[in-house]
Amino acid sequence: MTAPSDIAARVRELRKQLNDHNYRYYVLDDPEIPDAEYDRLFRELQALEEKYPALVVADSPTRRVGAKPLKVFGEVRHAVPMLSLGNAFSDEEVRDFGRRIAEKLGLSEVDVDFTAEPKLDGLAISLLYEAGVLVSAATRGDGITGEDVTQNIRTIPCVPLRLRAEAQRPLPRVLEVRGEVYMPKAGFEALNERQRAAGEKPFANPRNAAAGSLRQLDPKVTASRPLAMFCYGIGQVQDGRLPDRHNAILSQLKDWGLRVCPEIRTVKGIDACLDYYREIGERRASLAYEIDGVVYKVDHIDQQETLGFVSRAPRWAVAHKFPAQEALTRLLAIDIQVGRTGAITPVARLEPVDVGGVTVTNATLHNQDEIARMDLHVGDHVGDTVVIYRAGDVIPKVGGVVLSRRPADAKPFVMPSHCPVCGSDIVRLEGQVIARCSGGLFCPAQRKEAIKHFASRRAMDIEGLGEKLVEQLVDRDLVHDPADLYTLRMEQLAALERVAQKSAENLLAALEKSKATSLGRFLFALGIREVGETTAQSLAQHFCDLQAIEEADLETLQSVPDVGPIVANSIYTFFRQAHNRQVIDKLIAAGIHWPKIVVKKPATLPLAGKVIVLTGTLQGLSRPEAKQRLQALGAKVTGSVSKNTDWVIAGEAAGAKLKKAREFNIEILDEAGLLNLLQ
Ligand code: IVH
Repeated sequence: MTAPSDIAARVRELRKQLNDHNYRYYVLDDPEIPDAEYDRLFRELQALEEKYPALVVADSPTRRVGAKPLKVFGEVRHAVPMLSLGNAFSDEEVRDFGRRIAEKLGLSEVDVDFTAEPKLDGLAISLLYEAGVLVSAATRGDGITGEDVTQNIRTIPCVPLRLRAEAQRPLPRVLEVRGEVYMPKAGFEALNERQRAAGEKPFANPRNAAAGSLRQLDPKVTASRPLAMFCYGIGQVQDGRLPDRHNAILSQLKDWGLRVCPEIRTVKGIDACLDYYREIGERRASLAYEIDGVVYKVDHIDQQETLGFVSRAPRWAVAHKFPAQEALTRLLAIDIQVGRTGAITPVARLEPVDVGGVTVTNATLHNQDEIARMDLHVGDHVGDTVVIYRAGDVIPKVGGVVLSRRPADAKPFVMPSHCPVCGSDIVRLEGQVIARCSGGLFCPAQRKEAIKHFASRRAMDIEGLGEKLVEQLVDRDLVHDPADLYTLRMEQLAALERVAQKSAENLLAALEKSKATSLGRFLFALGIREVGETTAQSLAQHFCDLQAIEEADLETLQSVPDVGPIVANSIYTFFRQAHNRQVIDKLIAAGIHWPKIVVKKPATLPLAGKVIVLTGTLQGLSRPEAKQRLQALGAKVTGSVSKNTDWVIAGEAAGAKLKKAREFNIEILDEAGLLNLLQ
C-alpha cells in the first residue's frame, strides 16, 4: 500500500524525535521525556511501519536495540548480541504471550515453567570472565557493539574480579555473564543530596544516576558512587557446561560468587506469573532498588531454543511493565512557602496529573538553584511542560523540562526579593543554598510555623490545635508567640470560625494538660534552630535544668553528645535574645513544668571531672564514637585546648590543638593511650 504523503511526513517526524530522544537517553544520560511517552511514540511508528511496509528504512529506530556507543570508550563486540525484551502492559498481553508459547511448544499452558524476575531499572552490562578472571565489561550499546567499561565496572564492590571456583561444576574457560547495574534507592537519595549541596545537577532517577555514574571517564568518580549489580543471564560460554534450566543457571552463577536478585522465583503457568506480578507490585516500594516491572522467562533452555527470537527480542521472555511512575504535565505557577525558620521553599503548582496511580498537583522545587538548574520558565497562564516522577513511594518530584514544548511567552522564573507573607527582605547568605525571610517572628508565616511546631505531638502535644486553628489565631492577632496560647479564653475561641463550643472546651483542656511536660520536650518545642528531638533530649539529660542551659557557654554546650560548634552557637545565640527569654518566662509563669531529672552523679564515674580534647584522625574508632565513650565514663570532652584540659588525644595529622597542648604542657596521648583510658 502506498502511504499518503502526510503519513510519510509523520513517520519522518517520529523517527527524528525518537532518534533525538535515543541520543539524549543513551549518549547524554539525560532523557527529556518519560519512558512511557517514548514508548508511545515508538509504538506509533511501529504501527505505521507495519501498515505501510514501503516506508520502512534500514536505520529506522524500530530496527535496532539501543544507541551507538560513545566514542571515548573503547568498543566491545558482543559475541552473542545483547537483545532487548518485548513489553506487555496488561494481563491480556501477558496471556497472549503465554498462549503463543504453549502453542509453539505444543504444551498445555499450565505446564510451561517460567522464571519470574523483577525488571531492574538500571543498565544492562556484560561481564566476560576467562579462567574465572574478569577480563572485560561492556554496556549493551546498540546490541552488537557496546562500550568498554571494564575499569569502571571493576570499582563496583559486588562484582567479583575473580569467580569462586567450585568443585561441583568446573568453571567454563570463557563465561559471559549479563545483568543489570543499578543504584540502590538509598544511595541515589544520598548522591542527589551531595549533588545539590555541591551545587551540581541532581539525577532525575536512579537509572540515570547509575548510567551517568558508570559512563565516567574517570573510574574514581564511578568508585565514589553507590552502584550494585544483579546478574540475570549469560552470553557466550566456551569449554564448559551450564545447567539446562534458567533458574538453575542463576543458582550456579550465585555459587560462583555473582550476585543474583533474591526475589527470583520459578512458577508454573501464566496465572502464577500474574500472581507474582501483583505480589512484587505490592512490595515494590519497600524494595531497596528501583524496578519498573517484572520479567517472565521460559525456564527450560531447550524450550527457549525452540522458541527462538523475533527481530529485537527473544520469543521466550517478556517484560510486564508497571504503570508509568513518570508523567508529563504543565507548570501553572511557582509559589513560595515560608518555613518555621524563614526558609523559603519554591513549590511548583501543576496541572493535576496521574503518576503511577496518585494525582499530583504540587511538587517541591527545593531552592532557587534547583529552579535555575532546570531553567524552569513560567507563563501568564501556563509555563513549561515538566516531567513529574515518583521513585518508590517517595514524594513526587520535578525531573526536568521538555524544552521543545515551551510556550512562546514563557519567561525564566525570578525569585522574589521580599517575603510574600510579611514583605521583609529575603536574604541568602553567601555559600548557603537556602534563602530566608528576614522577618523572624514578625513574619506571620514563621509565627504560624513556630506555633504549629510548639503544639506538635512530639513537642508540647497540644491536641486539637491544628493548622487551620493556628492560622486563625495568628491572623486575628490573638497569638503572637507560644506563650499567648495559654492566655486564650473560652469566648475568644468560640468566636473563631468552625470552632464549636465543645472543641473550644477540649482545646482549653488540652492546653492545660500540656503544661505538665518534660524538659526535653519543652526545649524541642522552643524551636531552636539545629535542635531536634534528640539534641533536646541530650541537653536535658546533660544539664538536668533549664537555667543551666540558658547560662551555658559555648564550650560547655559542646561537651554535650551530638553538640558541635554550629549547634552550640545556635543554642547560645537563642538564649541571648531578650524576646526568647521573655517568652520562656511567660511560659513558666503560665504554669509549664516538668519533673526534676535525676541522673547518676558523674563523680562516681572513673573519668569524672577530667577535661579531654580530641584532635586529628583516629584509626580504630570515629571521633564522635570516642567522644561518646569518654563521656560515658564521666569525662568532659571539649573542642578547644585550655589550661583546664587534662589530656589531649592526638590522632593522625593533628595540628594546632596539638601545638597548643605542647605550649600548655598538657599530657598528650596517642590512640593507644586513648584505648588504655577507655579500658
Ligand atoms: S533479560 C534477551 N532480565 O531490561 C533477554 N533483562 O528491555 C535480555 N532488565 O536490556 C534481558 N531486569 O537492561 C532481563 N531480570 C531481567 C532484567 C532485564 C532488567 C533490562 C535489561 C535489558 C532490558 C530489556
